[in-house]
Amino acid sequence: MVLHNVGKTNEFPELRPKIVTIDGKEIGVYKWNDKFFAYQNRCYHQGGPACEGIVQGDLICEMDEHKHITKKYFSTEKYNIICPWHAVEYDLETGIARGTIGGKNKLILKRYETVIENGQVKVKL
Ligand code: FES
Repeated sequence: MVLHNVGKTNEFPELRPKIVTIDGKEIGVYKWNDKFFAYQNRCYHQGGPACEGIVQGDLICEMDEHKHITKKYFSTEKYNIICPWHAVEYDLETGIARGTIGGKNKLILKRYETVIENGQVKVKL
């Protein structure tokens, strides 16, 4: 395993990926709340460029005692990467897809470890 420098910590906007290529692999590097996450830019549904999709907060629905939705909003505490091809949602912090796809096992984005050294973001692979 080798650490690859992908940029300075202050060059990464919040919740918007920087797509880098390392050893022929496209990798999306995300910053959120001073944490960094790196995933291969390949959706495990049908191979779409998952990291080129939007990042959106979880949709939260509040209901009354009759189970009628009274309020909907997007969370600012939990985010998902949404693949642009068929909208599979992957948890930003784990890379695990929400729910199942056609009843099949969960899909998971390939995750790479990130390391911060001297203000530089490095991805291990
Ligand atoms: S290829 Fe990503 S949702 Fe289908």
